Amino acid sequence: MVHLHITSWALAIILLFVVHYLYKQNDGKFAKILHMILRLDSLIVIISGLALFFSYANKLNGELIFKVIAGLWALISIEMITVKASKNQPAKSFWIQFVIAALLAILLGFTRLPLGLLP
Ligand code: HEM
Repeated sequence: MVHLHITSWALAIILLFVVHYLYKQNDGKFAKILHMILRLDSLIVIISGLALFFSYANKLNGELIFKVIAGLWALISIEMITVKASKNQPAKSFWIQFVIAALLAILLGFTRLPLGLLP
């Protein structure tokens, strides 16, 4: 489940840049297809994240809750950036939110929380 989670959020971040670039290049058709794939991938991030979350059973703690919120916040920012790009509107505030939320999720996930790949 950890592998699925990491693979899917890494793919989401890559797709964010590709979809954003394609919308900016006015390649709307291809961008729309990849945007849908990005949304499906975001669902996989959420499902794998929830599966990890429920594997905690009764060991809930504040950092874990904060990690889940940061993860969801990063995904919402990704969706807002891509929707804004599709309408050719600026999305600076969402880029800032994305960087903050994704960094929080990655730092908490890799360095603070116990499940996962790193010791
Ligand atoms: C772009 C969004 C996200 C990023 C960048 C991200 C990043 C990470 C990272 C780096 C880990 C640690 C993996 C490891 O230690 O090997 C992790 C674990 C986890 N993630 Fe996410 N995540 C995101 C979204 C989500 C979402 C939406 C949820 C919940 C719905 C979620 C719930 C969890 C849980 C419960 C864990 C296990 C924590 C632990 O290591 O004990 N994540 N995530």
